[in-house]
Amino acid sequence: MHDSTKFIFLIVSLNIIGFMYTDVIIKATNLICAPSPKYFINHSCRLKPVNRYKSVAFMETYIRNQLRNVYVNIGLYARNDVNTYNPFLINFTQNICWYLGNRRFGTYMKVFMDIMAQYTNINHSCPYEGVIIAKNLFFGGNSMSALFPKGYYKCIFIFYEGYPLDYIGRVEYYAELYEVKKMRKKN
Ligand SMILES: *[C@@H]1O[C@H](CO)[C@@H](O)[C@H](O)[C@H]1NC(C)=O
Ligand SMILES: *[C@@H]1O[C@H](CO)[C@@H](O)[C@H](O)[C@H]1NC(C)=O
Ligand SMILES: *[C@@H]1O[C@H](CO)[C@@H](O)[C@H](O)[C@H]1NC(C)=O
Repeated sequence: MHDSTKFIFLIVSLNIIGFMYTDVIIKATNLICAPSPKYFINHSCRLKPVNRYKSVAFMETYIRNQLRNVYVNIGLYARNDVNTYNPFLINFTQNICWYLGNRRFGTYMKVFMDIMAQYTNINHSCPYEGVIIAKNLFFGGNSMSALFPKGYYKCIFIFYEGYPLDYIGRVEYYAELYEVKKMRKKN
């Protein structure tokens, strides 16, 4: 077939069976939790594969006394060709308790808190007591992640009780960001 004929043939056949679209996938590859025994009694922390595109996180920990004023420092790192993770774009500290007091903050904090509200029981105002639990947690691709370069990332969450800031624990979330072409079927 002539090239242009081939192209028209492709367009026509796609119109019959559906059309291609690109999906941004963020697949968690590793999860590490390190809560400080000063603040937490015990913990569990694992990733569960759901399918080839998705793994979800389960985390549980029991607070020793009470957390009254929690800060989170979120840092993003991108892996380079020689397997080194370098700081990438995001590193900020925000007070979770203030956020939940309905103050407005930046885009990244909003993404984080929306995920907390959806997959954890940290969706109420401070203080926190008893069990903290995250179920089926994952970061789905969104309009923002579509702008990120493909590759391997790690996101570090360091939690503090303050003020002055006292370390209470950290979570490291490793993920691969990639694109897949999918066919959307015609109805
Ligand atoms: C942690 O301890 C609490 C209180 O003793 C208990 O209810 C919970 O099941 C334990 N959780 C884990 C993950 O071991
Ligand atoms: C953010 O940057 C500071 C200063 O370089 C660093 O000490 C800290 O570990 C980073 N935070 C995270 C969560 O990676
Ligand atoms: C907060 O979490 C509780 C318990 O997990 C849930 O029942 C409730 O719907 C959540 N609220 C919001 C606003 O997501």
